[in-house]
Amino acid sequence: MSSENSVGVIDRPSFKRKAARVFGQWGVFFRGFLEHPKMVGSIIPSSRFTIEKMLAPVKWDECDVFVEYGPGVGTFCQPVLDRLRRDGMLIVIDTNPLYIDYLRKHFTDSRFHAVHGSAADVEDIVKAHGADHADYVLSGLPFSTLPDGVGPAIAAATYRVIRPGGAFLVYQFSARARDFMAKHFERIDSGFEALNVLPCQLFWGWKEPMA
Ligand SMILES: C[S@@+](CC[C@H](N)C(=O)[O-])C[C@H]1O[C@@H](n2cnc3c(N)ncnc32)[C@H](O)[C@@H]1O
Repeated sequence: MSSENSVGVIDRPSFKRKAARVFGQWGVFFRGFLEHPKMVGSIIPSSRFTIEKMLAPVKWDECDVFVEYGPGVGTFCQPVLDRLRRDGMLIVIDTNPLYIDYLRKHFTDSRFHAVHGSAADVEDIVKAHGADHADYVLSGLPFSTLPDGVGPAIAAATYRVIRPGGAFLVYQFSARARDFMAKHFERIDSGFEALNVLPCQLFWGWKEPMA
């Protein structure tokens, strides 16, 4: 409930709590960026416009296992959980232990699994969670600044782990990620979101359904 304080300013506890959560989340994200600028590749989490556009083509009723690389402080996690089936699973993988600790504290949904590790090991990570494939994989990785060889290894492992008919969803400030995807994915749809800091490229790489 709102109340007016001594200087006539409306005091809304829920607004304060929300602001503290958002700025706390951005603070953790920014700290991660300062510690590992090349691995994080951005100073601000993705916008809600990017999230909406990126997730729009997903067929949620056909999705049991959704994997996210580089969740950071979880900008995409709640939107994914809101859309995911009740018996689905969201596995997020990040190399930064600061982010993984943050996510484990803030997401208590039983469908949510936060793994400290590299996206290059996605096949083992998915198996360790009792699944033999992922339906969709989402990536916010800064492909252009990852160490040599890591981007191609991640793209190859991702293609192998996705089931036929599934997709690799990628957003990045540069179009470089598309080069890694193009070696494996038969069809790549492209998009662009201007309302993001910085504006970003969106790609959906589709693995052909089996004949
Ligand atoms: C640009 S941030 C993405 C943040 C978040 N997904 C968003 O949209 O706001 C990139 C993230 O990728 C993570 N990262 C970098 N290399 C990785 C790798 N090989 N495997 C998994 N995560 C990685 C970083 O720690 C960071 O959290």
